[in-house]
Amino acid sequence: MAESVVETSTIPKIGDRAPDFQANSSKGPISLKDYKGKWVILFSHPADFTPVCTTEFIEFAKRYEEFEKRNAQLIGLSIDSVYSHIAWLLQMEKIYGVEVKFPVIADLNMNVAHLYGLIHERASATSTVRAVFFIDPEGVVRALIYYPASTGRNIDEILRVLDSLIYVDSFMIATPANWNPGDDVIVPQPATLQLAKERMKDKNLVVKDWFLTVKKSPK
Ligand code: BEZ
Repeated sequence: MAESVVETSTIPKIGDRAPDFQANSSKGPISLKDYKGKWVILFSHPADFTPVCTTEFIEFAKRYEEFEKRNAQLIGLSIDSVYSHIAWLLQMEKIYGVEVKFPVIADLNMNVAHLYGLIHERASATSTVRAVFFIDPEGVVRALIYYPASTGRNIDEILRVLDSLIYVDSFMIATPANWNPGDDVIVPQPATLQLAKERMKDKNLVVKDWFLTVKKSPK
């Protein structure tokens, strides 16, 4: 017999306004609008006191200042109580010497999980998958990443996506595969035949083709 699965939430898409929320966290009550003017990296994990999640939190905690430098606020989330979060964060401090300086939402009523489509019922109806939402300083969803519980996330990749979004906003460029800050960036495609012809003669650009042109990274 086919398993019956109730689907209760939708996933905000790129370009959507990020749903506001009020939630209790390891740092007390928080809402998304508290962070207006900053990038918000909202990430969910399946459960406290689990191995993969612990490795991720250790890495997020170690890299916290790199997010701060980029005007980005990390916010964790799972369907656990605030007391569970406190106990887990204290244990990580004691055993691994890392302090988790960002809030971790205790989403026991699954409000935020439903707003952000963090529960994928066929994976688990009672815990969140590993999602990352990149929310810009205006409160718009700019990127999202979803992994299953068994795959720990790569913090370098999360910082790389954030850097790409910041560069794209600042310099009206795009970033190629495997890009990292300092690497060449992509110039937007010309919109007319005339501009394409002019582009091919531009000595300040590396024109690989009329539609694929790169230039040195802006500072
Ligand atoms: C983990 O973090 O190790 C984990 C959590 C939930 C399911 C599977 C693995």
